[in-house]
Amino acid sequence: MDAQAIEPQAVDSPVTRSAIFLVATLNPESDSRDTVRALCDDLGGLVRSVGKRVPSGNLSCVIGFGAAVWEGLFGTPRPAGLHAFREFDGGKHKAIATPGDLLLHIRAEHMDLCFELAALVVKRLGQAVTVVDEVQGFRYFDMRSIIGFVDGTENPGPRDVARFTLVGDEDPAFTGGSYVLVQKYLHDMAGWEALSTAEQERVIGRTKLADIELDESTKPSNSHSALTTLEEGGQEIKILRDNMPFGRPGAGEFGTFFIGYARSPAPIEQMLENMFVGKPPGNYDRLLDFSRAVTGGLFFVPPVDFLESLGD
Ligand code: HEM
Repeated sequence: MDAQAIEPQAVDSPVTRSAIFLVATLNPESDSRDTVRALCDDLGGLVRSVGKRVPSGNLSCVIGFGAAVWEGLFGTPRPAGLHAFREFDGGKHKAIATPGDLLLHIRAEHMDLCFELAALVVKRLGQAVTVVDEVQGFRYFDMRSIIGFVDGTENPGPRDVARFTLVGDEDPAFTGGSYVLVQKYLHDMAGWEALSTAEQERVIGRTKLADIELDESTKPSNSHSALTTLEEGGQEIKILRDNMPFGRPGAGEFGTFFIGYARSPAPIEQMLENMFVGKPPGNYDRLLDFSRAVTGGLFFVPPVDFLESLGD
């Protein structure tokens, strides 16, 4: 099947100022499966109902499913690359797997739109699921992560985004789908702020104010940018990220919700291996000395056609 002929979910929705991330586990009751399938079929309608009220709000919602529930929910074999979140343990830092069967990635310009849709979706899911993680993310100034650096610069552009994020002919039953990996990070802000700006720039591999990539000769091999840049046969392999800051200053919580979409889990897992285990092993991502991953989940995002066929 040609990826152009079918409709993917809103994976490459325009960057928005607000987002809600919901991770839920499926409850074992026999009607849970039917409730989730019915929601999948109606999700597009719910997004239209809420989004139409503020057309400039760019409301979108992506739904993804974990490996453990795929066959039970849909009665079809799993997408080829879908498996449980792979953990990476570098000794000092660990990318952990945490429970999660469903992911909802809701984006809009305004939090009220995200909130309204999240409330409707959670109501519809009712007793079928247990929400195990819920994060409200906000855009921080000029696309800054909460640690002060511009985040998302090296995302693929409009010409390349489909090729890097959508399954093509390699898995014909799931053409137009996408893999999505999420991790919630908490930052040691006191430790981070104790670094000079020049030291922070060597951690990220880019300048802070102007967001310019450090020169190859000065960029450390353990910088975030060096370890997450992938090349295969001279070609760069990209993923699509839409990370969001979140937090509760009063509770001392400063976080980044990492979300990455790709055509296969492999490039994202390679980045995690480089970050946590190191490249070469031991040369791990210095950003992890100030950022702790507290969740980890991998999901498959089927195309809209698949979701809508569930009501038939
Ligand atoms: C603590 C959480 C994280 C923070 C605060 C963070 C922040 C950043 C920042 C500021 C940049 C530079 C600007 C840009 O190109 O976006 C960046 C680049 C990047 N990050 Fe992260 N990131 C985090 C986690 C991750 C994870 C878990 C992955 C992958 C598994 C990842 C993959 C990438 C990639 C692919 C780039 C672009 C590299 C390049 O082509 O130069 N990031 N990140």
